[in-house]
Amino acid sequence: MIKFIFYSSKASFDLSKEELNALISEARYNNNKNQVTGILLYMNNTFLQYIEGPEKNIDTLYNKILKDDRHHSLSILESGLKPIRQYEDWTMLFKKVSSQESDQLLQSLKTSEKDVSFDNLNLEDVKMFFDQFGI
Ligand SMILES: Cc1cc2nc3c(=O)[nH]c(=O)nc-3n(C[C@H](O)[C@H](O)[C@H](O)COP(=O)(O)O)c2cc1C
Repeated sequence: MIKFIFYSSKASFDLSKEELNALISEARYNNNKNQVTGILLYMNNTFLQYIEGPEKNIDTLYNKILKDDRHHSLSILESGLKPIRQYEDWTMLFKKVSSQESDQLLQSLKTSEKDVSFDNLNLEDVKMFFDQFGI
C-alpha cells in the first residue's frame, strides 16, 4: 500500500523564486531516491502539498518537513493508505499561483452559505483548486 499525506502550511516569509527553486530541487532529488511522488502548490504565502510513497519514507519525510523553519502551522487535511499512486510521474510537481489567480479561485469557491479563505480551506476546496489547474 502507498501512504499519502495532504497538508497545508503557512510560509514563514515570502519565498523568492531562487528560494523556491532550491526547495523544489532538493525535494525532487530526495523524492527520487525515496520513491516519493506528489505535488506542491504555493500561493498567498500558503503551501498545499500532497506526498505519497512507501509508508516509512512518508513518515520520515513528513517529520523532516514538520521541522522545516521555512514554514509553520502545518495542518493535515487528509492522510491514509491507498493501493496505487495518484502522481506516479511526478517526483514533485510544483506550481506557484499568482495572488490574482488565487483570489479568483477563492472567489469561485465562495457560495452564499460558505465563506472560503486561506485560513479555513478544507479538503474539498483544495481538491477544487487542483481540479482548476488540471492536477
Ligand atoms: C513546503 C515544503 C515542502 C517540502 N517538500 C519536500 C519534499 O517533498 N521532499 C523532500 O525531500 N524535502 C521536502 N522539503 C524539505 C525538507 O523539509 C528538508 O529540508 C529536506 O528533506 C532535507 O532534509 P535533510 O537535509 O535532513 O535530508 C520541503 C520543505 C518545505 C518547506
